[in-house]
Amino acid sequence: MERELAMEFARVTEAAALNASRWVGKGDKIAADQAAVTAMRIMFDTVAIDGRVVIGEGEMDEAPMLYIGEHVGCGGSAVDIAVDPLEGTNIVAKGLTGAIAVLACAPRGCLLHAPDMYMDKIAVGPECKGRVSLDAPVKQNLREVAKALGKSIGEVTVVVLDRSRHEQLIEDIRSAGARIKLISDGDVSPGVATAYPSSGVDVLMGIGGAPEGVITAAALKCLGGDFQARLYPEGDEKEEEIRRCHEMGISDVNALFTIDELVHSDDVIFSATGITDSFLLKGVHYIGGRAITQTMIMRSASGTVRMIEATHNLEKKPLFKDNRIPFKLD
Ligand code: FBP
Repeated sequence: MERELAMEFARVTEAAALNASRWVGKGDKIAADQAAVTAMRIMFDTVAIDGRVVIGEGEMDEAPMLYIGEHVGCGGSAVDIAVDPLEGTNIVAKGLTGAIAVLACAPRGCLLHAPDMYMDKIAVGPECKGRVSLDAPVKQNLREVAKALGKSIGEVTVVVLDRSRHEQLIEDIRSAGARIKLISDGDVSPGVATAYPSSGVDVLMGIGGAPEGVITAAALKCLGGDFQARLYPEGDEKEEEIRRCHEMGISDVNALFTIDELVHSDDVIFSATGITDSFLLKGVHYIGGRAITQTMIMRSASGTVRMIEATHNLEKKPLFKDNRIPFKLD
């Protein structure tokens, strides 16, 4: 893929983050998500790709924009796109930390098509690559991580979504002696943060969204980290989820996916912009009519990781000019 696309994608996630940021702390997660989707959709049409959304806002009949199968871009390389315009809808609604606007792009056919269901995941940074397995006992994985990072297990920090389904996992991590940071939502940012020692996150474990899992795998591919996952059909929707998996070409729903099976290309681009402050990125901050964003863009082909801090003059931005998207901070 053309390397110039990386900068174009940065603009796409910046737009989604800026528009969603107006809803931080306003208690309306639907409006926040819609704002992110609208801005991301408009920006995509300025990017020179023949893009197909493989991970998006849902199926065609449930999402008006960025639905799975939708074509985006104004023509160019044939690519597949995974988007999460607002990763952490509740986070934004409640004004908490950890929300990002994010996308990953790979050549056509190179991202796992995962339905919107749960996935069991483990994510680690580059030092721990090849040292952990979703099939290994929690204690063994943590011992390996500690060894690889030159820490004691007591110094290892694991991020886990605060959910009742994780009771046993939390007990296992604590009895192994590691520390846990429980989060209310948003497992992409801590998953990616495992590749950044300064983030304070060493491992991400537990069950979260499958789409978020594929996006995290794309990021860790760029950063040289590791990620393993297994789909987790459950509840009343179980049969339907299994049917959707088969329809999307996943014949063995119980299979363990390695990072290379989730993202089978060495040419991946990942872009994320902070909406609220997180393990990974600063959120959108407003200073006198200007907005400051922080965006992380990476290309696995070159291994380059860029952190871009941008100052946006909201009155001049084409996206918000002439009320194309009305932008007003109340
Ligand atoms: P939304 O942005 O769609 O609200 O999802 C956020 C999220 O917390 C993901 O980061 C995570 O993978 C998933 O939801 C967990 O799902 P659940 O809230 O059902 O446990």
